[in-house]
This record gives sequence, C-alpha cells and structure tokens, in this order.
Amino acid sequence: MCGIIGYIGSRNAVDVLIEGLKRLEYRGYDSAGIAIIDNETGDVVRIRSVGKIKTLSEKLIGMNLSGNIGIGHTRWATHGPPTEENAHPHTSGPFTVVHNGIVENYAELKEWLINQGYSFESETDTEVLVKLAEYYSKNELLDERQAIMKALKDVKGSYAAVFLAKSDSRKLYGCKHESPLVAGISDDGVYVASDVPALLPFTRKIMYLEDGDFIELTPDGVQVFDLNGNAVQRRFEVVDMNPVAAEKGGFRHFMQKEIYEQPRALSDTIKPYLSMENYKVFLPNAAYLSDVISAITKIFFIACGTSFHAAMVGKYVFESFLNIPVEVDLASEFRYRVPVIDDKSLVIAISQSGETADTKSALSFAKSFGAHTCSIVNVVGSSLTRLSDAVVYTHAGPEIGVASTKAFVTQLAALILLGLFSYGILKDDKEDVYSYLAESLLQLPSVCEEVLRRSDSLRNWVHEISVAKSCLYLGRNILYPIALEGALKLKEISYIHAEGYAAGEMKHGPIALIDESMPVICLVQRGILAEKMRSNIEEVVARGGNVFVLADEAIKDSGFSESLAKKVIWLPSVHEFLSPIVFAIPLQLLAYYVAVERGTDVDQPRNLAKSVTVE
Ligand code: AGP
Repeated sequence: MCGIIGYIGSRNAVDVLIEGLKRLEYRGYDSAGIAIIDNETGDVVRIRSVGKIKTLSEKLIGMNLSGNIGIGHTRWATHGPPTEENAHPHTSGPFTVVHNGIVENYAELKEWLINQGYSFESETDTEVLVKLAEYYSKNELLDERQAIMKALKDVKGSYAAVFLAKSDSRKLYGCKHESPLVAGISDDGVYVASDVPALLPFTRKIMYLEDGDFIELTPDGVQVFDLNGNAVQRRFEVVDMNPVAAEKGGFRHFMQKEIYEQPRALSDTIKPYLSMENYKVFLPNAAYLSDVISAITKIFFIACGTSFHAAMVGKYVFESFLNIPVEVDLASEFRYRVPVIDDKSLVIAISQSGETADTKSALSFAKSFGAHTCSIVNVVGSSLTRLSDAVVYTHAGPEIGVASTKAFVTQLAALILLGLFSYGILKDDKEDVYSYLAESLLQLPSVCEEVLRRSDSLRNWVHEISVAKSCLYLGRNILYPIALEGALKLKEISYIHAEGYAAGEMKHGPIALIDESMPVICLVQRGILAEKMRSNIEEVVARGGNVFVLADEAIKDSGFSESLAKKVIWLPSVHEFLSPIVFAIPLQLLAYYVAVERGTDVDQPRNLAKSVTVE
C-alpha cells in the first residue's frame, strides 16, 4: 500500500505535494519522491529519497523548484527493496508515473519490453507502466492519453496511478482499478490522491473515483472517461471528515482498519504468486527453492509471538501435505538448544517486521550449521530478508497497529503458497488435492469478507468477556495455534489474562480453573475432532463454565447445536489448511471489541512495540 498525489493549478506544486504526502505517510513510509515540470526549463525534475517524507523535504531545501504541476509518492515496497532507484516517481521518455497497487503480470510485461529494446532502472513492477506508455506513443503514434489508456489495458492487477506527460504542462492523467483514488478541486487548482486525508488541507470538495475510471486533470477541472475514452459522469461532494479519522479510513483504530483490510491483503498476497489459469505457483528465488526443497530432509520454523503461531500452523500443513518432518521453535529458545540441523535442513523464519532481534539471531545461528534459509516477511528489504537465501513477501501493506492481524493471515497464506510450490516439486502427480487447495486459496479473500460480515454478532459476547479476570481459549490440531493466537490478541490489547490450550489437555490441569466466571472460547472444526471438541465443551459446561463457540457451519446440522453452549457463531467451511485464517479473524475482532470496551490504547498497547528489535 503506497500513497500517491498529484496537483495542477496556481500554487507551488512542491508545497502541495509535500503537504499531501505527509498525510499519506501512514500508507507507506520506506521511501518517497516527487516530480514537477519546472516553469523555467519545461523539464521534468524528479527528486527521490529513501526514508520518510522528512528526508525528502530536507533534500528539497535550497533547490528553489518552481512548478505548478507535479506528482508525488510515499512508498511501501512490494517489488524491489527501498532504494532511491526503486522510489517513485518512475519515468520513461515523456511519461512519469506514481503508482499504488500491484502489477501482477509485470514480469511478463517487463520481459516483452526488454525484448523491444527497453532497459529498466528499477526492480519495481511500476516501471512497466511508463515503458508501455512510451512504447505505444512512439510505435502506434498515440497521443499521451491514448498511449496511457492502451498501456493500462495490458495490465493485470491493481492500480491507482497518476501520470505526468512532459510535453504538456497543462494536464495530469489518473486511473483507478482496485486501489483507492480521489480527486479534489479548489480555487487554487485540481488535486488527485490515494485518499481524502491528503486533500483536506486544500479542499473538502472531493470526487470519489470508481474502478475503470480514467481522469484528465487541468487547472480548471476534471474530466472522467473509461479506458475506451467514453465520458463518465462523476461529481464532487463536500466531505466533513477530520484528518486523523480520515487516515484510518473512517475506522476508529488502525487495528480495526487492518482487520477489515484482510480480504484485500490476502488477495494482494495470493494473486501475484498463484496463477488463476493453471494454479502454478510463481515464487521469487524459484530455482533456488526448487533445488533446496528437492534435497532437504527436515524443515525448521522459527518465529516470535503471532508469527510463531503462524509457524505452528505451518507445521501441520507441511507435515501432512508434504510428508516432511517439521520442527517449530520460538526464536528466543532455538539458539539455546542443540538442534539436529545440517545442510539438508531448511530453516524458515516468519516475521512481519523482518527486524525482530530474536528471529534474526536464530536465523544466523541456523546458518552457522550450513542450513538453507528462507524468510516470510512483510517489510521489503528488512534485515531478515538480507540474512535469508530466499524470501517470500507477504503483501499486507503497512501494519500500524501493534497487534498483528493482516500480517498474520497473509503469513498463513504465504505458508500455503510455499506448501503448494513444494508439493509441485516433490510430488509427480498433481492430484486433485493440489487443485482443491489452490482453488480454495483463490476463493479465500471473498470467504473472509463473509467471515467479517458474520463476526458482527461477536459484540454480544463482549461484556461478559470484558469483565473477566482470565479467559481460556481451546482448540485442537490446526486450530490449537489459533487458540494461542486468540489468547495473545486478548492479552496484548485488553490486558485481560488469557491462555490458549490444546482442548485435549483440559483434563490434565486447566479444568480446575473452570467456574462461571471463566469465559471459555472454543474453536470447533468439522471432521473427527468435532466430536472430541463437543466432549470438551460438555466437560466445561458441566462445571459451570461460560462457553463461547466458534464452529465450522458444516457441523451445524449434525445435532451439534443443541448440545453446544448458548453462544455459537457459525463460520464458513473452507479447506482445513485455511481454517486457521477463518477462525483467526473473529478472534481478532473479539479482542478488539473487548479492548475498546475496556478503554485501552488499542493501537499502541502499554509495554509493547510493533517490532521488538532487542533480545
Ligand atoms: C503480535 O500481535 C505482537 N505484535 C507480537 O507478538 C509480534 O507478533 C512479535 O513481536 C513478532 O513480530 P514480527 O512478526 O515482526 O517478527
């Protein structure tokens, strides 16, 4: 997720762009840049820098740039680490662009452009947009607008982009498909940006654009077209929104926003790696990973916190899907035992930030034994990625809330993708089991939309849990890590003590805790374990425990509901490997609602940091 902005009018474009980018920084902040058409020379001047907007502003001091048209970008890297070369804007010939989204077919477009004689200065997917526009303007003699429209028709994926065309300092072009884009207008000119916060300092007259819209901005106004050049009607409306609320997209907290972003985060993570046509998995470092996966005899997962819970799920998936022995370690414990590890081991580190000190140290420790390494990380170019032989990036976008949510579910999706990739290497016959999992993964984002819709009824559970002294979360098999994750979410943002437990372990101690003051949240998947969970629930109910159940709707008609607790929320049935994601989302929301009820600092809970960079 990145922030883009464009301006054309009577004001100094640099001032407008920087002011707007500061309000978009929450969308991405690893590098930034602007481009304007200089009033004196008529040239496009492009200034980029690594780091936050502040660094870019300092670089601009003393440059005395003067222009009334320009574009700007603050980046959250998805393709190519945060370097000045990868920072937007990107330029080719007369075209300069800033882009938010993912060009899913950028690799094939880039290869085709290279075969047409083009060379690339960056590792980004975005650069193909301006190269394509330049190609069409030169080889098909199209005007700027037509060339950009034609280029966009080649693109698969999501984009919100703003183009500058050197030859015309009176026009900007914008386009939208699956990434947000709004336009604004004031007496001083016309604006376009990723979303409303960037424009509130200049205007409250906002035009919300739709997928497929192509806009042409002049100092006097905005014209809207479809990609075939047909006029489209859109209108400006006056918005009444305070800037801080706007940064959260109207949500009360970043954590809530990020919980609801999960379908989009999953789609952005799954689609670039998994072909919808033939279910083939395209991972970076594919050749290396193929060689390693063909040769290894053991896999280790290392991680901390929520990422450790993802690693636990990975064990279930990899052992049953690939029949490879898997060990899972807390990173902080891994280096103080003597693991049986060698050059036939693959160590997979999982981390949202890529900066967790324990995880970095554990990975270095593993490398000392000659192990192969791969990391699953959300922050492009972070330390862990530079320590690893291979990286599979999640595309969750910046996760601002300290409690990890969208990063967690995209880690699980990345694990499934790695599992599918490995299956394709290790198993000759592409049985139906592969296709079923791949298709289920592609359907997952829309299933998660449904999960979010059903999770509204969780609000009925909130009061009883918010007054509890302690809560128990019970799950079995692949949902046991999700019981741990649900407990961690509640602990870290509501400050209520909570424990996740393997339900079968109840009778070995924890059942002594059960009384009417103890909320017990039970996770029930379909299959043979449903009956086991039913017995566990009845044991709790028999001792007066206050049971709350999240259950797979597939067991709804098996006489299950009568004997269950009074409070049950039925969740959509999915492939068993995907059920952790389906069950995690309501538990995130439950923790969120309870924390809000208790008035804690949801986005920045006491004592915690978003990335624990000390051991
Ligand atoms: C999870 O909600 C916490 N923020 C914390 O447990 C986190 O998962 C852990 O610190 C690991 O962080 P990482 O994924 O960035 O390595």
